Amino acid sequence: MYQRIIETKVDVTSYDELQEEYKKLIDEAKSQVSNAYAPYSGFHVGAAVLLENNEIFAANNQENSAYPSGLCAERVAMFFANAQYPDVPVKALAIAAHTRGKFLSEPVTPCGSCRQVLLETETRFDKSITILLYGENHVYKLDNVKQLLPLCFEKNSLDGE
Ligand code: THU
Repeated sequence: MYQRIIETKVDVTSYDELQEEYKKLIDEAKSQVSNAYAPYSGFHVGAAVLLENNEIFAANNQENSAYPSGLCAERVAMFFANAQYPDVPVKALAIAAHTRGKFLSEPVTPCGSCRQVLLETETRFDKSITILLYGENHVYKLDNVKQLLPLCFEKNSLDGE
């Protein structure tokens, strides 16, 4: 038996240090939290997807009294972007979350199901998606979705690769 150490790289930065394109994407994600439908959790999430054609699709979480029927902000935004532009790769995604009247001070991190969905888009277009996780104190920047989901199951896995 031996151990394999699996590392992930996260740039810990801040909003002010980011390039303008990424600031704008975070601004879009932040502006979406006010439209979230989150009466059950009170956890309001905004997500913004930047496509290669420079269009931005932004959305938020949509909850339901039958809890599992709701959907996270990342998936609402990503599915809508892919539905409108099935042939255009995604360049970047930003998320921000607001609860008890303020944005999280540390970066919000996506749930496992969202990571899996984001990975599908990344592999589908074979194009890395920059991930920006917003917090008031820090922003985490990841070069691609794989950094968020080590030991992932992806389409190559179906071929036994
Ligand atoms: N949620 C998101 O929209 N994105 C995340 O990254 C984490 C969780 C939503 C789902 C649910 O509406 C609420 O936040 C609490 O889990």
